[in-house]
Amino acid sequence: MGMYSEKVMDHFSNPRNVGEIENPSGVGTVGNAKCGDIMRMYLDINSEGVIQDVKFKTFGCGAAVATSSMATELVKGKTVRQALEVTNQAVMEALDGLPPVKVHCSLLAEEAIHAALWDYAQKNNIEIEGLEEPVNDISEKEEEEEY
Ligand code: FES
Repeated sequence: MGMYSEKVMDHFSNPRNVGEIENPSGVGTVGNAKCGDIMRMYLDINSEGVIQDVKFKTFGCGAAVATSSMATELVKGKTVRQALEVTNQAVMEALDGLPPVKVHCSLLAEEAIHAALWDYAQKNNIEIEGLEEPVNDISEKEEEEEY
């Protein structure tokens, strides 16, 4: 029923991994100035580079909640490298899709994870191949992609 899949409704009504991590290995916050939504991701990464725990907090729409919930489930237990492969596309597929007008919401989770990984890399003085410096406002990035 309606425009959202059952999985989206489930992750929206019962989001996984909501909260904070004390002394996280990395934390990242991104927003989208166009809709005003904000997302913060916390990562707990062990010495082998495996994401042991992940939590998120959001001031965001329902689709942002559902995609972040799914994204945290997908990166948990993964290595940093594997986590980079969890794209917003992968998250949307895992949720059986999102309405086109809500696709941009799934970017919030992906970018917040990248920002947290960036923070982790900075703190540990390492370089994560394929990871770009995060932007605070992801709507700037969307605009770039439109051209
Ligand atoms: Fe802003 Fe969904 S409307 S993230």
